[in-house]
Formats: sequence, structure tokens, C-alpha cells
Amino acid sequence: MKILGIETSCDETGVALYDSAKGIIADALYSQIAMHNDYGGVVPELASRDHVRKLLPLVKEVMTGADVRPDDIDAVAYTAGPGLLGAVLVGASFARSLAYGWDVPAIAVHHMEGHLLAPMLESVHPEFPFVALLVSGGHTQLYQVNDFSQYILLGESLDDAAGEAFDKTAKLLGLDYPGGPLLSALAKKGRSGIFKFPRPMTDRPGLDLSFSGLKTFAANTISKSDDNMQSKADIARAFEEAVVDTLIIKCRRALIQTELKSLVIAGGVSANHRLRDKMSAEMEKMGVTVFYPGQAYCTDNGAMIAYAGYRRYLAGHFEPLAIRAKARWPLAELNII
Ligand code: KG4
Ligand code: ZN
Repeated sequence: MKILGIETSCDETGVALYDSAKGIIADALYSQIAMHNDYGGVVPELASRDHVRKLLPLVKEVMTGADVRPDDIDAVAYTAGPGLLGAVLVGASFARSLAYGWDVPAIAVHHMEGHLLAPMLESVHPEFPFVALLVSGGHTQLYQVNDFSQYILLGESLDDAAGEAFDKTAKLLGLDYPGGPLLSALAKKGRSGIFKFPRPMTDRPGLDLSFSGLKTFAANTISKSDDNMQSKADIARAFEEAVVDTLIIKCRRALIQTELKSLVIAGGVSANHRLRDKMSAEMEKMGVTVFYPGQAYCTDNGAMIAYAGYRRYLAGHFEPLAIRAKARWPLAELNII
């Protein structure tokens, strides 16, 4: 079985083909970062317009590259939300129409379920049940995942998502958009212990998180510090360590509470090396195995949507001839009762 996956929820146009026998057989991604960089962040209207331009050429590239014809495709899966509504609408309209034209089912995929299932594409992958930490630019959430489509929200950020805090702090440090990977690179040149950032909401029980205070703390630290590269690198290091430690403390709590022994970390911030290294080392001490997506599948991509679409296909979740697009969409709404 072959599923075409289409992702357009933010600033990446992703198209991929999942083959149930072979895995991902073609994968194309166009990043709009250079276009948005001039504005210091994603401009929704420009994002939508660019998805319109890129989708058809990317579908052609993927189909030609894998030597697959429309007749070979069993379903078209698309991100139906959450995300920038205009951007989601472009991919949803395009994908639903393609499925209609090809006379195959269309499958609406929840973007965060795509992230959550992305580690399943790896040769060593998690088995249900597990705890999942989703850390992206728009979400920071902890779930107990009992099975496919059985998601219990354990805690989430009450304000900024971790990726958003990375991006905003990076901007304060004079870095380009999206700042997460750039801040992380700068932090490698920083010294540990020069600045001490708080670990928000770890001094009280519970699994909710908060990252906007760290960004404010960074702003205050920057204004009081020397304006040189070493000082910026030291601040980047302190900020990154604070985010990583906070996420580790909350994951540890979630694992103790649920008594589970597997942890999935997914979403753009799961590409972060310090997070991956330290999380794995700390969890090993608790006898917990941590699973991540491959580096290419941490940030937005079509492959995770094609795979989540395949799982929904198996569960018989097909869309009627209406186009589904949602800016907000709680993951637990997907639960099969
Ligand atoms: O999952 P994603 O591609 O998009 C959303 O669904 O939001 O996540 C993008 C976020 C951005 O905030 C970006 O700065 C962050 O992931 N990110 C990173 C790293 N790579 C991407 N943050 C920290 N370290 C990284 N290496
Ligand atoms: Zn994402």
C-alpha cells in the first residue's frame, strides 16, 4: 500500500510517499525559511502563497523519483491542523482534490500526531504504551500514549512553547529565524555556570510547563551583560541548559506517575543535541528507553504525515468530500473510544 503525505501547516512544504512494505520511498521538502528570515518570523500570508507555488512541483518530484504513477497510490493524507489556517487550507484543498481526482480516500492528519508517530519510521522504534513529550514551535505537551489514537494529555506549556522560547531568545541574541538551531550552535561555544537561569515550574508538583519567563530572564541578562560573542554564547548555553533540565524533570515525573518505561521525544526541538544526549543519559538511570525521530523527521516534513495517514487508513478514518482545516485541534479529540 502506498500513501502520499502532504504537510503545509507552517513554513515547510513537505511531500512524501510511504510504502507499507518498504517505508518512506520518496521525500521532498521545501523550506520557506529564507523568505521569512527578512521579517524575523513566519508571515502567514506569504507562507500560504508559497505552498501554492511549491506543492505540485514537489508531488511531481516525489512521484517521478520513486517511479510511482497515480494508479499506484492508495490514499492521500494531509495535515488538517493545527497550524496557520491559510497554510493548512492550501495543503488540505490541494490534497483533498488530488484524492478526488485519483479516486482514492483522503485522510485528514493531525500535525502533532504526525510528530508523535515519527519515531515509528526508525528501525528501532517504540511500542505502545509510552510517554510522549512533544516539543515544537507551537506546542510543548506531555502525553500518556496507551495505544494508537489513545492520547491522554498529562501537562502542557501554559504560555510559550519550548521552540518559541528558543526562537524568541535567539532573536534577543541577534540570531536569525528560526533561532532554535542557531542558538544551539552558539551555546556550544558557551561556558556552563557563568549564568544561572531558573528551571520554571519545577518547584511545585504537576506536569505543566512555562517558558515565557525564561525568555524574559534572557532579555534581562542580555541587557546587563557585556555585548560580546563570548557573553552571548554563555547566555545561550545557560538558556539551553535550563530548557533541557526543565524538560528532563517533567519527563521524569511523567514516567514515575504513569509507571511507563518508554519515552518518545518528538517535534522540532527534539533535533537539539543537548536535549537528546542529556535526556537519554538521565532516563537510562531510571531504566527508561528514549526514542527520537531521525534528525530529518524532527522538524516538519511530509514523511510523518504519510505515515500517520497510513495508520489512520488502517483504522478506516477517511474524509468525506469536504475539506477539513483547523487552526486549533486538541489531539485527544482523535481518541478512538
Ligand atoms: O516541529 P517544528 O518544525 O514546527 C512546529 O510544528 O512548530 O518545530 C520548529 C521549532 C522551531 O521553534 C525551531 O527553532 C525548533 O523547532 N528547533 C530547535 C532545533 N531545531 C529546530 N530548537 C532547538 N534546537 C534545535 N536544534
Ligand atoms: Zn511541527
